Amino acid sequence: MVKTRVPEGGAILDQEEMTMEEYSEKMRKMMGFEYRGFINHIIKNIIPPENAKVLEIGPGPGWIGIWLAKERPDISVEGLEASPDMIRVAKKNAEAEGVAERVQYIHGIVENMENISNATYDLVISNDSLHHWDDPIKGFLEIARVMKPSGKLHIEDERRDLGFRGKFILYVIGPFIARKEWKWWKSSVYASYTPDEIRTFIEQANLANWIVKPNFMGISIEIK
Ligand SMILES: C[S@@+](CC[C@H](N)C(=O)[O-])C[C@H]1O[C@@H](n2cnc3c(N)ncnc32)[C@H](O)[C@@H]1O
Repeated sequence: MVKTRVPEGGAILDQEEMTMEEYSEKMRKMMGFEYRGFINHIIKNIIPPENAKVLEIGPGPGWIGIWLAKERPDISVEGLEASPDMIRVAKKNAEAEGVAERVQYIHGIVENMENISNATYDLVISNDSLHHWDDPIKGFLEIARVMKPSGKLHIEDERRDLGFRGKFILYVIGPFIARKEWKWWKSSVYASYTPDEIRTFIEQANLANWIVKPNFMGISIEIK
């Protein structure tokens, strides 16, 4: 039996116990390795075209888009982010990393990108944000609209229906590697969708060329 989903809410904002500057630093240290894996996959397997315009949904502190732009000096990245506090930090990070001219941020939500024209982006990416979206079907339809017909896609997130291996990593190894932040990890897992739920959203949005690729810890969504 898969547990009922427990939503985490949308935008992640400054909190009394932690500013988004502090969050950004924690994520850079704790998740940097995973971010590098995501970026390597984009560069080696998804292969953004020359001078690609990239949209990152829910960039948070922005490390993925920023480091991707450093690896590929021909591309530009726009981060569509629901949290003004995250945008404040991501802008500072892009400046400090010397890519502020090519990495910019838009305040908004994936479910409504009305200020963005159809067929704008060559590539849409997102990491660990899908489980925050209130309405994934609307979000998927909006992504499909702002993506060029030849556009590429790579979305990654957790999965709630972890099997034995996934649960072992989350519950036995997780507390040692994530320490105080373990509770965030666990809460993201229980806010996330199962591969079957995502397949149903894709079917309902009529996106026949989108495919869900599950692995033992999470899922990715790409174009077939
Ligand atoms: C867990 S963080 C992940 C941040 C970053 N992608 C990373 O991998 O570190 C999720 C981000 O998605 C943003 N977010 C939540 N709901 C959103 C929505 N509907 N549209 C756009 N961004 C959203 C949050 O504000 C937050 O910055």
